[in-house]
Amino acid sequence: MESIQSIKQRFEIIGQDPKLNRALEKAMQVAATDISVLVTGESGVGKESIPKIIHSLSHRKHAKYIAVNCGAIPEGTIDSELFGHEKGAFTGATQTRSGYFEVADGGTIFLDEVGELPLTTQVRLLRVLENGEFLKVGSSQVQKTDVRIVAATNVNMFEAIKKERFREDLYYRLSTVEINIPPLRERQGDIHLLFRKFASDFSQKYKMPTIRLDDNAVSLLIKYRWPGNIRQLRNIAEQVSVLEENRGITAATLHGYLPNNTTSNLPAVVSNSKSESDFSNEREILYKVLFDMKGDLNDLKKLTMELLKNNDSEKVQKDNENLIRKIYGNDDEEDADIEHDTQEDSSINLLHLPEPKQEDTSIIQDSYEDKYHFAEEIQEEETLSLQEKEVELIKKSLERNRGKRKAAATELGISERTLYRKIKQYDL
Ligand SMILES: Nc1ncnc2c1ncn2[C@@H]1O[C@H](COP(=O)(O)OP(=O)(O)OP(=O)(O)O)[C@@H](O)[C@H]1O
Ligand SMILES: [Mg+2]
Repeated sequence: MESIQSIKQRFEIIGQDPKLNRALEKAMQVAATDISVLVTGESGVGKESIPKIIHSLSHRKHAKYIAVNCGAIPEGTIDSELFGHEKGAFTGATQTRSGYFEVADGGTIFLDEVGELPLTTQVRLLRVLENGEFLKVGSSQVQKTDVRIVAATNVNMFEAIKKERFREDLYYRLSTVEINIPPLRERQGDIHLLFRKFASDFSQKYKMPTIRLDDNAVSLLIKYRWPGNIRQLRNIAEQVSVLEENRGITAATLHGYLPNNTTSNLPAVVSNSKSESDFSNEREILYKVLFDMKGDLNDLKKLTMELLKNNDSEKVQKDNENLIRKIYGNDDEEDADIEHDTQEDSSINLLHLPEPKQEDTSIIQDSYEDKYHFAEEIQEEETLSLQEKEVELIKKSLERNRGKRKAAATELGISERTLYRKIKQYDL
């Protein structure tokens, strides 16, 4: 068997920590088999090299290796990406397409961020794992494939199972062997080694002398918690390499690059819920904003897909009530402190959609090319029909309550102030 040292060289893995070596050894041992492997570990610890090692040491090495980031593919298209689709299976499926499980027959598929897979896709995946069978989307003909699966996750799978976001049976199928990559703070002996390697890479890249840390800077580097692990360490090595004129780096200089109050080597306190997040620096806030935006974008994609498929906005709204509320929020929030007696009523969630913004439409019209006209027309049509429905609902409620606004507002599940605004807006 190839030595661990040569694997490290081949895959540019730096580090001598026994826990890292153990993870690499495990990868080498399971490579020859077809056992499913789940790679776990915090973000940035280096999970992505494990499936590559497994594939390249296996009998599948001459067949395809496909890495799929499950978190980056919209829910509406992931089944088709993974399993392919038949011509006419859905709008836009103009021809039959092979999915990754067909293309990678005989090879390996790496399912990164596997915890993000939608539940329906998890069912299909379980079937492939159990007997190598799958169906293309829109087809009833069972196909066979011989694919080895390596998956990775940086989320707590037990939490996901508890919250019913991940199937327990699939988890056990995927994690026949689990390879855990420890966080950098548990591999302290490797931290300076990695920093020196990155500093040397960046000095070559930017054609500048290599930066050197003094003793105090080294001990600061080692004590730091590294929540973003090796990815963060490399970013900081790059920043210091580029920005510091004086190539001898002191602890004080280095301190300026490390996010605040995190120089302790105590174990990290990982918050479970978003609302409990304690942002100690701007970058974390930005990460959170980006993360939330990605979530919103995926939700919007899902909603758009539903609208295109169903062409029935009322049904789509009803079916996706929670999603709509999640994306658009509740426009009555501003009134919450004034109107305490307002009741939510899911049957009239139309009223919670944002009001049409004229200026937005005109910006789209002015600055976008022809290819956006389709989307624009849909948006205008939807807005129009939503408005009509809203007006109708308000009128009916006012009639039923004999013009009494407070009663109508309560029935509609909005505040009196919002109702007043809408009456004025629609001239009722
Ligand atoms: N031991 C190592 N030696 C050198 N570079 C490493 C090592 N481990 C990771 N890296 C580098 O650190 C970066 C992050 O690694 P990787 O993308 O594998 O993280 P990850 O565990 O998949 O994180 P995430 O869960 O966020 O996707 C990559 O650029 C990778 O090359
Ligand atoms: Mg990754």
